[in-house]
Amino acid sequence: MRIGILTGGGDCPGLNAVIRAVVRTSAGRYGSTVVGFRDGWRGLLEDRKVPLDSDDRINRILTRGGTILGTARVNPDKLRAGLDQIKQTLDDNGIDVLIPIGGEGTLTAASWLSESGVPVIGVPKTIDNDIDCTDVTFGFDTALAVATDAIDRLHTTAESHQRVMLVEVMGRHAGWIALQAGLASGAHLTLVPEQPFDVDEVCAMVKKRFQRGDSHFICVVAEGAMPDPASMTLREGGIDEFGHKIFTGVAQQLGNEIERRIGKEVRTTVLGHIQRGGTPTPHDRILATRFGVHATDAAHRGDFGQMVALHGTSIDLVPLAEATRKLKTVPKERYEEAAAFFG
Ligand code: F6P
Repeated sequence: MRIGILTGGGDCPGLNAVIRAVVRTSAGRYGSTVVGFRDGWRGLLEDRKVPLDSDDRINRILTRGGTILGTARVNPDKLRAGLDQIKQTLDDNGIDVLIPIGGEGTLTAASWLSESGVPVIGVPKTIDNDIDCTDVTFGFDTALAVATDAIDRLHTTAESHQRVMLVEVMGRHAGWIALQAGLASGAHLTLVPEQPFDVDEVCAMVKKRFQRGDSHFICVVAEGAMPDPASMTLREGGIDEFGHKIFTGVAQQLGNEIERRIGKEVRTTVLGHIQRGGTPTPHDRILATRFGVHATDAAHRGDFGQMVALHGTSIDLVPLAEATRKLKTVPKERYEEAAAFFG
């Protein structure tokens, strides 16, 4: 069997561990070969590939962040229009099954391909942890560790200066990193895209904390957190690849408002792509490796149109169409759990 593999969308720690697992399992267990396509779907649109049949390519990549294949975001309309070209490249290269590793955009395209008859098995990845039908995605644990460490550090400096510290973490549509990092680091407030916030209520909470004699206030802000429009208007920051409006610099804008409204000194830290780079945690290396092994086994069994997923401690298969129907966002009850520590 000849397997094609690609990594699409934003990179994420653990991608190389999946590539290594697919290559090793294919060769060692089935005598199959693997061909990597470069820069996500672009590699298939432009027939740019790299053979992954030699150990040289995959040796020592388990611990390396990023992706040895490169990745890219592709506009979904362009991708839909290019499906015939993608199929042609797969045919020209004698690919029997494709394993795309990616987030919502990549897996949705994988689902379209599968519906049009191409044998596909998806592997979910994203630091945002917003892919449905799997308990967790690899990359999330690493991003969470980075964010938690950063907030731990901000506590001590905020305390020393009696400041309000806002820390913006990734998560445009889902607030998993913010929620979990806030809980893990004992933040005094966490703002997520799923729950609009009222700036007056945030200011009242800050004031109350300092009036009580507390030394500092740490607020974790997901980049997609949105104020209730009646309490503050956010400046827009562009349009994403799906045509959705982006509001960049939410934490900075909120920080300015807090300073203006209550006169308290505020500092803002934007963690940005630091959360996505570097070495994956052991958890992410193991999950990514297990996903790679199970995707390869599924390919050889002919279980196409599926995505590998973690349920409890088992790796199962779920239909790609089901996994890409909606994003997995933070449920209200999980936010309320965290709210027990706010203020
Ligand atoms: O991978 C998802 C994500 O990390 C989002 O949280 C973030 O908004 C986005 O990627 C930013 O990615 P880029 O700067 O690569 O477009």
